[in-house]
Amino acid sequence: MTTTDSAGAAPSQGGERPLGTEDALREHFDATIARDQRIEPRDWMPEGYRKTLVRQIAQHAHSEIIGMQPEGEWITKAPSLRRKAILFAKVQDEAGHGLYLYSAAETLGADRADLTRRLIEGRQKYSSIFNYPTESFADVGVIGWFVDGAAICNQVPLCRSSYGPYARAMVRICKEESFHQRQGYELLLTMMRGTEAQRAMVQDAVDRWWWPSLMMFGPPDDASPNSAQSMAWKIKRHSNDELRQRFVDMTVPQADKLGVTLPDPELRWNEQRGRHDFGTPDWAELKRVITGDGPCNDQRMERRRTAHEEGAWVREAATAHAARRSERARKGTAA
Ligand SMILES: [Fe+2]
Ligand SMILES: [Fe+2]
Repeated sequence: MTTTDSAGAAPSQGGERPLGTEDALREHFDATIARDQRIEPRDWMPEGYRKTLVRQIAQHAHSEIIGMQPEGEWITKAPSLRRKAILFAKVQDEAGHGLYLYSAAETLGADRADLTRRLIEGRQKYSSIFNYPTESFADVGVIGWFVDGAAICNQVPLCRSSYGPYARAMVRICKEESFHQRQGYELLLTMMRGTEAQRAMVQDAVDRWWWPSLMMFGPPDDASPNSAQSMAWKIKRHSNDELRQRFVDMTVPQADKLGVTLPDPELRWNEQRGRHDFGTPDWAELKRVITGDGPCNDQRMERRRTAHEEGAWVREAATAHAARRSERARKGTAA
């Protein structure tokens, strides 16, 4: 807990108002954000800030867990032991990311079981990208390259997010996402050096995942009502459109090196802007997928629900074990 090194200082100038009143607390909060320092769990925060964070972190955690499914399907079908081991490790990392994030949400007073229930009941969302099917092993490579690449664009700035536990969780997550992106790209490089059929598989996967990956950054800025407040609170550091642009600029040279074509006739370098111009994603499609009508929404939710039900005995056993341990500890202390 490092927030307020300056914590001793009275939050209000002049010190006329007693500490602890809502105004003084709010002033202290605003000043902490303005100084680019971290808000920690023990600090006062506006209810809207807490709610926004719980929603964002929960949605992020759910995405990590649901995101295990599209690639998880390929663990048993991986073409070699080496590829299986890599994919296994990657999917396992995503489970770890989910756990760090649920823990970060718990520091805000959220209850993990409750968040899971909200997901399963369809009351909380996860990233639209995981509602698309993985049709070939090349999809594993393209997901690593695009989806983990997009995650990096999104998440590196979150390492400087104003909420301490979230920012710290993101540091480790980003390191692992970077490994995920490289393993995907390395798989694709290998396939591109293979047969004509393998090259065609890669191009096909690129064609199918490009636009959904651009949609991962969310709706355009003028249709993203919560963004401005999140940026003012420094939960978010860049707008959806800015992050999308960064992703495109980062990915185009990688596509050239790989020897694939990105499926956008409007994609070209803009000398004046020093950035790429690109076409408009199908926002109607994004809306459909977010509201439950994507190609795999039902399947993803069904599997998550089943996994949760099938895990009930583990949760019960763990709870009973914890209770017995604390009972034993209590007796030990009493003795
Ligand atoms: Fe992840
Ligand atoms: Fe990842």
